[in-house]
Amino acid sequence: MAEETGMRLFEPCRACHSLDPAERGLPGPNLAGLLGRKVGGDPAFDYSPALRAARDQGIVWDTMRLETFLADPAEMFPGLWMATRGLDEAADRRALVQFLADPAAR
Ligand code: HEC
Repeated sequence: MAEETGMRLFEPCRACHSLDPAERGLPGPNLAGLLGRKVGGDPAFDYSPALRAARDQGIVWDTMRLETFLADPAEMFPGLWMATRGLDEAADRRALVQFLADPAAR
């Protein structure tokens, strides 16, 4: 099931990201409500110049942008402070984005 796949694919991300809006202090920004939010949109997180520039341009996370980002994060935002490999499979990227888009996902 795509939902379970998305949840499984998010497991390694949990080392740095939470989907619980109340959880702070992880190495990466909080990802609750990511879809529809501005890039660099966690007010409590100190982003890299690369993501701050994107935020200042008003760029918003939508499904397409997030799937492209997950293929190769640093290619979209050179200078990104997130040294993780992208996901090679389009189906995996879609499943992970669906999981992130679900407000019930935690
Ligand atoms: C080792 C820690 C780490 C891991 C693991 C990690 N990230 Fe990140 N992530 C970060 C950091 C740090 C940033 C902020 C980067 C910056 O400011 O340039 C970030 C930024 C992001 C952003 C942009 C958030 C925003 O507010 O605009 C998204 C989306 C994201 N990560 C998704 C993921 C996903 C999905 C995974 C798992 C596949 C993942 N990350 C794994 C550390 C991590």
